[in-house]
Amino acid sequence: MTSPIPSELVDTLRSANRVVVLTGAGVSAESGVPTFRDAQTGLWSQYSPEELATPRAFRQNPKLVWEWYQWRRELVSKAKPNPAHYALVEMQELFPEFTLITQNVDGLHRLPGSNIIIELHGNIHRTKCFQEGTIVESWKDTGDVPPKCPDCGGWLRPDVVWFEEPLPEAELESAMKASRKADVFFSIGTSGLVYPAASLPHEALNHNATLVEINPAPTPLTPKADFMLKGPAGVILPELVKALRK
Ligand code: APR
Repeated sequence: MTSPIPSELVDTLRSANRVVVLTGAGVSAESGVPTFRDAQTGLWSQYSPEELATPRAFRQNPKLVWEWYQWRRELVSKAKPNPAHYALVEMQELFPEFTLITQNVDGLHRLPGSNIIIELHGNIHRTKCFQEGTIVESWKDTGDVPPKCPDCGGWLRPDVVWFEEPLPEAELESAMKASRKADVFFSIGTSGLVYPAASLPHEALNHNATLVEINPAPTPLTPKADFMLKGPAGVILPELVKALRK
């Protein structure tokens, strides 16, 4: 059962100037991308993400970590945006200011045309130097796994935020700023457990935003939400857009 769209929410949104959306793995679930915590199948089931997605793990076994990301990259490359991603593109046209903040590294928001996206946890399709942190667009295939940085010869790694690593400063700062100014803040498809991303809805609430959550399951944020729309994002978001366009 999905929640119907409350008319009070439609009224609130019609008078909103600044809308901010924070998305998590649940938004890509309907594209067939397993959430981070469900991702360990087959070959990789013996490892937990916490064992692979850390700088320590990479130092200890760079080949294993690179190959795991290679597998995840291939999985994500086959995925297509779902109705939730498309509805968010429509939403950006409905408000004077609309900011999309994502914890997802799959890049699926970009494909259908969402344009102002703050990627808090990086992007799996980008590669950087482990040593210098610089983005590397191309490198020679010498057979090394992981490949080597063309500038310094250090290992290359995916440009994603690992456990124990800080978030990119500029992105976090923009996300915080937007959250503080939001009239309405949506938390969609995220368990709200991983900080600092999970602090953004609280920032918005502290600055008097209306908080809307979309998730089939309750989260620690649910008791604070003004509206909890229970159900899959790929169903609820298109309904919300329809209600707003009426
Ligand atoms: N629509 C909306 N929400 C959904 C759907 C769906 N179709 N399917 C699942 N969900 C919800 C789940 O109920 C859960 O609350 O999505 C949430 C997914 O939670 P997590 O797997 O914890 O994902 P997320 O919150 O994005 O994790 C944050 O943690 O592992 C790190 O860096 C990784 O970015 C990730 C971060």
